Order: sequence, then C-alpha cells, then structure tokens
Amino acid sequence: MSQANLLCINPSCAARFSPDEVIYTCPRCGALLEASAPAARDGAALKRLWRERRMSNAPEDRSGVWRYRELLPFEDMSRIVTLAEGNTPVLEAPRAARYAGLRALRFKHQGFNPTGSFKDNGMTAGASQALRLGLKRVACVSTGNTSASMAAYASAAGLTPVIFLPQGNISYGKLAQALEYGALTVQVEANFDQILKLVRELAERTGIYLLNSVNPFRIEGQKTIMVELLDQLDWRVPDWIVLPGGNLGNISAFGKAFREMLALGLIERQPRFAVIQAEGAAPFYEYFHRRGEFTPVAKPETLATAIRIGDPVSWPKAIQVIDESGGVVEKVTEQEIADAKAVIGQCGIGCEPASAATLAGIRKLAAAGVVEAGAFVVAVLTGHVLKDPDYIYRYHTGQLTTPSGERISPKFANQPVTVAADVDSIAELLGQHMKG
Ligand code: F0G
Repeated sequence: MSQANLLCINPSCAARFSPDEVIYTCPRCGALLEASAPAARDGAALKRLWRERRMSNAPEDRSGVWRYRELLPFEDMSRIVTLAEGNTPVLEAPRAARYAGLRALRFKHQGFNPTGSFKDNGMTAGASQALRLGLKRVACVSTGNTSASMAAYASAAGLTPVIFLPQGNISYGKLAQALEYGALTVQVEANFDQILKLVRELAERTGIYLLNSVNPFRIEGQKTIMVELLDQLDWRVPDWIVLPGGNLGNISAFGKAFREMLALGLIERQPRFAVIQAEGAAPFYEYFHRRGEFTPVAKPETLATAIRIGDPVSWPKAIQVIDESGGVVEKVTEQEIADAKAVIGQCGIGCEPASAATLAGIRKLAAAGVVEAGAFVVAVLTGHVLKDPDYIYRYHTGQLTTPSGERISPKFANQPVTVAADVDSIAELLGQHMKG
C-alpha cells in the first residue's frame, strides 16, 4: 500500500506533507489539512471483506472504525489503541418521525460508543497517530465530549491526557468522565473558541499533541461513522443525513467519507446533508445564508453546551460538503431543542441536548417543504442521554431557563411524584394515572 499523505485543502497551495510530521494546518499557507484519499480497490470485494470481519474476534475487526481500515491512513494495526468503538445502532423512531412530520425516521446513535459520544470514532485514530509519532502527551480543549473521549483513549494508550475546559460551561457527566479516566483537567475562564487559540499556541510551543478536530487524523476516524451506516443500510443511500454542527469537524468527516465511498464505487450517489445549529451559536447558519466573509459569533450561548461554539475551525471544509451535496444549514431555538429531546426520550432512545437539535431541525425543514414527508432520513444522535442529566431534570420539572433567562415551557414534562408510604395511597395514585 502506498503511504498516505497530508494535503493542504487550499487549491492554490495544494502542498503535500508526510503523515510523520507533527502539523495540524498547512505550514505554508495556514489552511486546513486532510489525509489523501485511499487507494482504488474493488468495491464489491471490500464490502464482502468488511462483512466477514464482523465474524472475527480480533480487536481491529471488532472495532467499528478499524474494521474499515482500507479507508484509513494507517498501516500497522499492531500500534493502534481501540476500545471497541463504533458498532453503534441504527434505530427506527416512529414517534419522532410523526413529531417531525415524516413517515419514517432513523437515528444512528453515536451515544452507544465507549465514552458515550461520536468522538470515540475519531479519537481512536487521533490517539493512534500520537502513538505512531511517538508523542507522550496529548491535549484538547473541549465542550466536554472530546475531553471525555481523549482522556479514555490516551489513558488506554499509556499517554498523558491534558484537558482544557471552559469553566462552568460543561455538563457534570462529561467533566466526571475526564476526571475518572485520569486526565489533568484544567478549567479556564474563557469560552471554547478563546481556549482553542491558547491551546493551539501551547501545542506549537511545547510539542504536546493536539487532538481537537482540526487534527486530520480525528476526521479520518469519524469518516467511518458514515461507512458503518451505509454498511448497516446495505449500501442504500439516504436522501438526507442530519447532524448538529459545532466546530464542524463531523460534517467535514462525513462529506469526505461520501466522496471516498463514491470514488471507490461503494455507492452511486450522495445524500444531502442538513447541519443544525443552536440559535445562539449559529455562525455557520449565517454564513450559509449570507456568504461573504465568515463572521464568528463572539459570545455563543446555548444550553446545548456541546455546540456552544462561535468560531468553528472546520467551516471551510464544512461549506464545501454542504455545497457539494446540495445540503442546507438550519438553526433552532432552545425551546425547540428541549422539546425535541423529550420526544427522542419518549421513543425509548434518548440523547444529549446537542443531538436533539437534529429532530428540531428536521421538523422545521419538513414544515418548510425542504425535507419531504416520504424522504429517507437518518439523523445522527451524537451523545448519550446520561451526558447531561441536570438538563433533563430541569426540563421535566419546569425549571429549565434559556441562557438569557427565559423559562422553557416543557411540552412533554414528566414530573416525578411523591407519595406516602402506604399501599392505599399508591393504589389511588396509580388509579389516577391510568385515568389521566
Ligand atoms: N454533538 C455533540 C454531542 C458534541 O459533543 C459536539 C462537539 C457536536 C455535536 C458538534 O460536532 O464540532 O464536529 O461540529 N463537541 C466538541 C467537544 C466540540 O469538545 O466535545 P462538531
């Protein structure tokens, strides 16, 4: 197999670099980098090979990322770190479909990953790249999930994880994971975008390896979310794939996956992508509709803290994916996210707030006639329901307020009830519940 390269995505530069160089952006022009496309192969043979690997107990075959290693810029499987990531289900959600105004809706639930979010698909590759480079310390700034994932993979690999978090703006579930997985956890009094600038400089200065999604190897791992999805759908391409957008790494990865699957003849057409942002942190939405200069949001605000990002690093890759696919960018309110999240819960599925932006967005796009009622739609739920239990409790008890202090009125509230410790009282309560 020929050695993969890192390519500058700026067409007027198009510089190439070895994957053994510790770089995140192009040293010549500053643009983003991406791994070169995989070598041409027999698509039908690949599909068979990947199916056969599902029967294998080898760690690199059990992983829903490394099973698709022909598409990844790694050759030596003896030096990867895996926690059996990926293998996440595609779930039918009729109740959510009705809520959105569609005949059917499927969720690809990345919350089933080892640390409960889609970040694990990318982190197994990012941490493996740190091993390949022989680096000992890894760092990231995070709204919570990247840090939980990086802490786990770095510790599993024997690397030292250092995590930077925006103080007071990540959920306890995610903070708890970082502590439990043994990361040095540094809270900074600044927002995600401000800390990312600091940490990028720190990486330059100290040689600590940066594992944010600007790292092209993270993106490579996240590509497999789409490859696994198509494998699970027997290679039937959805009309729409819908996902939340924050730093825009995931949409960049998904677009690259489809470009490569098309080139390999694994599929014959692209889906359209819809990226959904929270209203208070929607710079990509604004850019998509207005074009011109990309204008960051200086003070992003949303209760969906995972996507509380105002200056997304990967927007140049993301806009290319949206345009290539005939896609759209939508934004949704805090109220819409909160109610959509409760509906996903009522499906018996559940997810964290950022993930629920998908259903809220689909509902809006269906009402506007952009997504047709009969369309084949897959939404990606990016994180597990237990990532942010505080939000859930507040919603169901009517205590959830938006960042600007407005009360959210929960359309699907499910209050806990208190009862005296005797059978008569409980029986009466149950009777009322049956009637109600
Ligand atoms: N959903 C969840 C649950 C996330 O944690 C994130 C990003 C996104 C969606 C957005 O994905 O950045 O690729 O557009 N979380 C990052 C973090 C930023 O630090 O954990 P994106």
